[in-house]
Amino acid sequence: MNPLNPADLHTDPSLFVGTDVYAVTGNPISHTKSPDIHRRFAEQAKQKMHYGRLQPDINAFAVAAKSFFDAGGKGMNVTVPFKLDAQAFADVLTSRAQLAGAVNTLWIKDSKIYGDNTDGAGLVRDLLAQGIALHQSRILLLGAGGAARGVIGPLLQQSPKCLVIANRSNAKADELVKLFADLAASQEVALEARTLLELENATTTPYPFDLIINATAAGLIDESPLSAQAVANIFVPSSFAYDMVYGKSTAFMQQALQKGARVSDGLGMLVEQAADAFLLWRGEQLATAIDPRAVLAKLRS
Ligand code: ATR
Repeated sequence: MNPLNPADLHTDPSLFVGTDVYAVTGNPISHTKSPDIHRRFAEQAKQKMHYGRLQPDINAFAVAAKSFFDAGGKGMNVTVPFKLDAQAFADVLTSRAQLAGAVNTLWIKDSKIYGDNTDGAGLVRDLLAQGIALHQSRILLLGAGGAARGVIGPLLQQSPKCLVIANRSNAKADELVKLFADLAASQEVALEARTLLELENATTTPYPFDLIINATAAGLIDESPLSAQAVANIFVPSSFAYDMVYGKSTAFMQQALQKGARVSDGLGMLVEQAADAFLLWRGEQLATAIDPRAVLAKLRS
């Protein structure tokens, strides 16, 4: 286990006079790549800022966030398990944060805390950068928890042909379909719910899919949400399989590779969501000064 570096963890803004201070907050947080990513963006855009890590106790997000902002902190990224706490903490939510039902980016402006969610936009940009066509595509989203909900809006906005949400238990996928029904209709997308079990039945599985995204937590325990029969129904060699987990080849990615499909982990999504957060904090005019794909290449090398 990596011991936490206390200097890195130190995010008390009063110790960094003249430097804007940001932090990523999660529990655990020792594994995070966010400080490295933001340090690289700051170098590219010639921004003077300090970006640290915060690990509040599981029930102490609001206390930690309040003391961070009270002490002069400018902005915060939020990761597992605090994205719902961050949503509750914000005074003002962007519309995409409301739709996502969670917040991964906070900042302070005119004494108010703003909350946004850049995860879905980050996923879509990473997919497009990898040459995946989303318009009129057939997408299968595995999972119906917070990670899945966060990306549905931005995926629908790309006007795929269909988006099927498949979950272990059906009720949650049904709820998401109801929640996003209006947006799906306005984008002319067939939005449907399935259980993972239904994917095993070729007659209830609507299509092989162009894109299959794993937003379940199964990868964290080295499992795949898909049975061998489901894999046989949903993949064709032209499919692209995307796992939101990064840093390892998951069981889901292995299944896809065995079907001849292309695969990606979620590191590009992490970098792209960070780029959006950076621009929210430091100004959209820096969009041309940062190069997320170069940062991603560095992280992979
Ligand atoms: P997150 O915010 O990371 O999405 P979550 O809200 O707990 O976390 O949701 C976890 C998702 O992974 C859910 O869709 C869950 O399915 P259930 O709703 O049926 O619980 C899914 N999941 C977790 N472990 C899984 C496994 N071993 N196989 C399939 N799905 C799994």
